[in-house]
Amino acid sequence: MKSENIQTATLDSEKLPAHVAVIMDGNGRWAKKRLMNRVKGHEKGSQTVRSIVTAARELGIGMLTLYAFSTENWARPKIEVSALMMLLKRFLVSERDELMTRGVRLNILGQKEKLPKDVREEADKTGGMTRNNQGMVLNLALSYGSRQEITLGVKALARKIKAGVIQPGEITEEMISDHLYTRQMPDPDLIIRTSGEFRLSNFMLWQAAYSELFITNTLWPDFTREEFIEILINFQERDRRFGKVKCSTSNDGSPQ
Ligand code: IPE
Ligand code: IPE
Ligand code: MG
Repeated sequence: MKSENIQTATLDSEKLPAHVAVIMDGNGRWAKKRLMNRVKGHEKGSQTVRSIVTAARELGIGMLTLYAFSTENWARPKIEVSALMMLLKRFLVSERDELMTRGVRLNILGQKEKLPKDVREEADKTGGMTRNNQGMVLNLALSYGSRQEITLGVKALARKIKAGVIQPGEITEEMISDHLYTRQMPDPDLIIRTSGEFRLSNFMLWQAAYSELFITNTLWPDFTREEFIEILINFQERDRRFGKVKCSTSNDGSPQ
C-alpha cells in the first residue's frame, strides 16, 4: 500500500477542521529556482489546486478556502496578471465536471466586479451550476483583501444606520461577520501558508481571530496531499483554548 494510506489512518475523521484556508504562496520562487518564467510557476500551482481540492473533498473537509489573488496582486506586471486571469478562467471551465461529480460547491470571495468579464462569467456559470452541491464548499478568494472586505461591510452597516434600520449601539460582532464575504460561513479553523512567509498578507483579518496557523516552507507548486494530511494531523494535536483554561483546571481557576 502507498504511504498516503498509512498517514490517512492516523487522521481522526471525527475531528476534522470544518474550514481550512490556504494562502497559496511561492509559485514565483518555484519558477525562479528552475530559471523559468513566473507564469510557469502559476501553471504548476494550478495543478496543485486541483490535487488539494480533491484531497480535501476525499478527506471530508466541509469548507476549503484558497487565497488565489489579492487586492494587492493587481499591482503586479500586467503580463503576470493576465496570465493569472487566463489560468483562473481555464480552471473554472476545466474543473466544472469534476466539481459536479464530487459534489463541490464553488463560491467566489472578493471583488468579483473587478475581474475581467470573461472570468466573471465563467465564475458565475460554475458557481450557478454547483450551487446545490452538498459535498464541500470551495471558496476561491479572488481580488480579495480583508481590509477592503471590512470597509465594504462598514459601509453597508452605515447605510442601515442612516436608513434607521439599526441603531449604532445595536451593532454586534455577529452583525459585522454577516456583512463580510464570508457571511454565514464558519471562521477558518486552520490557515496554512506555503513558502515560509510569516504573515497573513491581508487575508481574513477578522475571521482569523482564533484560527490555528501553519506555515510550511514548501512552495505551493510542490505542496502535496501527503503534506496536507500531515498538517491536518498536526492541527488535531493542538490544544485550542480560545482564551479559556484547560478542563483539567478547577472551577476557581487555580491549576490542579
Ligand atoms: C502565489 O505565488 C500566487 C499569487 C500570489 C497570485 P507568488 O506569485 O506570490 O510566488 P512568490 O511569492 O513570488 O514566490
Ligand atoms: C499572498 O501572497 C496572496 C496570495 C497567495 C493570493 P503574496 O505573494 O501576494 O503576498 P506577499 O506580497 O508576499 O505578502
Ligand atoms: Mg508571493
